Amino acid sequence: MTQLILGQTLSFSGDPFVEGPSAARHETHGAVAIENGKISAVGPADDMKATHARAEITDMGDHLLMAGFVDAHVHYPQTAIIASWGKRLIDWLNTYTFPEESRFDDVDYAADIAGKYCDFALANGTTTAASFCTIHPQSVDAYFTAAAARNMRMVGGKTCMDRNAPDTLRDTAQSAYDDSKALIDRWHGHGRATYAITPRFSPTSTEDQLAALGGLWSERPDCLMQTHLSEQLEEIAWVKELFPNARDYLDTYEQHGLVREGAIMGHSIHLTPREITKMRDTGVTIAHCPTSNTFIGSGLCDVTGLNAAGVTTGLATDTGGGSSFSMLRTMAAAYEVAQLRGDALHASHLLYLATVGSAKTLGLSDKIGNLVAGNEADLIALNLCSTDPIKLSAARAENIWEAVFPTIMMGDDRAISAVWVAGERVRG
Ligand code: GUN
Ligand code: ZN
Repeated sequence: MTQLILGQTLSFSGDPFVEGPSAARHETHGAVAIENGKISAVGPADDMKATHARAEITDMGDHLLMAGFVDAHVHYPQTAIIASWGKRLIDWLNTYTFPEESRFDDVDYAADIAGKYCDFALANGTTTAASFCTIHPQSVDAYFTAAAARNMRMVGGKTCMDRNAPDTLRDTAQSAYDDSKALIDRWHGHGRATYAITPRFSPTSTEDQLAALGGLWSERPDCLMQTHLSEQLEEIAWVKELFPNARDYLDTYEQHGLVREGAIMGHSIHLTPREITKMRDTGVTIAHCPTSNTFIGSGLCDVTGLNAAGVTTGLATDTGGGSSFSMLRTMAAAYEVAQLRGDALHASHLLYLATVGSAKTLGLSDKIGNLVAGNEADLIALNLCSTDPIKLSAARAENIWEAVFPTIMMGDDRAISAVWVAGERVRG
């Protein structure tokens, strides 16, 4: 049975960082047709009703239909320690993160938090996320099991650490290789799961471990690889001490076969010109995490400059270093971070980063992240008048960008009026 969902529609035919807002396609009276879990057509409502006369119709009024948000970098095991006070990165990891991640050897606790994380994501209109798990393989099983129960397309991997972490959270080069390989065989490409080989970051992996994971990636080249890069200046100084022979932070990964297409670097704030050029030339992507970067005090990522340099960039909450599960709050933070750099991102840039940009960052843009025929039907409806203050401001709008911007800046889960996962309505 074909479903036809009516509302305003927003999709992208190009990149607004290149073409400006004309890269977006907006219909005030639009419709999305869904068949067998995929989008089969998007167009003006009248035409679509004529061509889909027998479809089951859902009318979302003037709510905005768009692709579900894609969160390019999160830590689901940090769900319960989000918004913990007063530390910078390394202290924050030692004080809050590592004790919490130690709890994930308990499979029941891992399952409980994985389920809660997926539900918080869906409530906020996030239909895909790429998550770090913990060093425990059962944390990965819990994550992909929770995602499969909700039929969500999710990316994840076992976090690997063989130094500078508590005893309870250290693996070895060999066990990281063995466990990651077994998890790839169990999960990668099963249902909607994508595996990402996941060294946490250079300070918590020996060169032996980075080399082992680089070797594994060459044996399983269709997996992704996710890690952290150049988030805080203290971290970069530490990397310099730990890797005296590396040219820069990126080189610590490059020397071990971890810099190529399919690599996703979280944060990437304080980059050298060589690193930027190398990332562009190799197709390495960046997950921009603005609520985390302000919350932990890491710095102001130059998203506009990175896009101009040709580096693919997506948007991410970095839960729980980030302070919200909401990609709306994250877009607001991206706007504010760019403003502090003297640069006003347009609503089309922000919505692109949170959907197509993140999907490209994860190598999934042929499947998700855009409201176009052929993509999987992971979509949301946004109520552009979800609170009285937003409604008051949106009433002044003269076009879709002015109408959506108050929701980007002030909206939260109340603005998510419906969510569809693979064509099934799961919220609203
Ligand atoms: N760098 C290494 N691990 C982490 C983490 O868990 N969160 C953040 N924000 N940065 C990191
Ligand atoms: Zn992170």
